[in-house]
Amino acid sequence: MPTLFIDTVSKRYERDRWALHEFSLRMEAGVLGLVGPNGAGKTTLLKMLATLLLPTEGHMTWNGQDMLRHPEMVRRVLGYVPQDFGVYPQISARVFLHYLGELKGLRGAHLRRRVESVLEMVSLSADADRRLKTFSGGMVRRLGIAQALLNEPRLLVLDEPTVGLDPAERVRFREMLPSLSGERTVIFSTHIISDIEATATHLALLNHGRLSWTGTPEALLADAAEALWTLTIPQAEFASLRTHYRVSSAIPRGGSVEMRILAANPPHPQAIRANPTLEEAYLLFQEEMGQAGRAEAFASPKQISPS
Ligand SMILES: Nc1ncnc2c1ncn2[C@@H]1O[C@H](COP(=O)(O)OP(=O)(O)OP(=O)(O)O)[C@@H](O)[C@H]1O
Ligand SMILES: [Mg+2]
Repeated sequence: MPTLFIDTVSKRYERDRWALHEFSLRMEAGVLGLVGPNGAGKTTLLKMLATLLLPTEGHMTWNGQDMLRHPEMVRRVLGYVPQDFGVYPQISARVFLHYLGELKGLRGAHLRRRVESVLEMVSLSADADRRLKTFSGGMVRRLGIAQALLNEPRLLVLDEPTVGLDPAERVRFREMLPSLSGERTVIFSTHIISDIEATATHLALLNHGRLSWTGTPEALLADAAEALWTLTIPQAEFASLRTHYRVSSAIPRGGSVEMRILAANPPHPQAIRANPTLEEAYLLFQEEMGQAGRAEAFASPKQISPS
């Protein structure tokens, strides 16, 4: 099984400003969701994995081989979708993939087979001869993933693959991701925690360039298992509860409000314990880190868009 090992990697673009600081992670096959707000250092880390950027400090190995000394070894096994993936508007998806496949060194019948196969994997076969200027944002994203799969990568790196997708396309992406993983190591970034649900086997939370938490989504949920309450109260009582508790959602129902509240103890005599979503577990984690006196190192939960 291929192993990716990122060993205390740091990146400094400017003096005294670390975009990424002492990031370490070991991973075998599976899907890692890298979550963090804008500027957290996600793209910086993914570009280093894609051999487009060198760390200022630290080491990275793939199957025990030095990725910094042997970028060509990485590129042979790598598929990469950059955050700003762009296409040529006048050509078709099929022509575009042939072109990129040739750049990757694929030729002849093998290239043709790979193009058809990746089109199939991202459900674009029926649209393969349409010009790319007619593609929706979600179709372009899927094409980005298709080109990354051309060389059957063992290491697949996707930078914000769900940005700009409508809800239906987002669901489609989530459904597609597990089928892509197989024997692969897949790493994708997002600032939307719900992208992680049902797709990622591992989770890494990044805040201001630092890894603040890593583990399985289930472990993050388990940490929050006893801390989520639901409660329906009259509108008039809502304001006071809201000032005292972290409210993860509040839905008006007639004259009442249906609330979900994060708290260690029951926030109200009528509150009922419920299962937290991954997003609520994440909010709780951020809150606890803040209370532990390390708030400055972590973003305010409000910076994460509650989708
Ligand atoms: N080429 C660069 N030169 C100087 N600073 C940079 C450069 N690229 C990124 N940074 C800084 O490094 C930090 C991390 O940026 P990065 O793009 O890795 O974050 P991100 O998590 O991908 O953010 P986003 O969610 O907005 O894509 C930010 O403070 C950013 O301003
Ligand atoms: Mg980015």
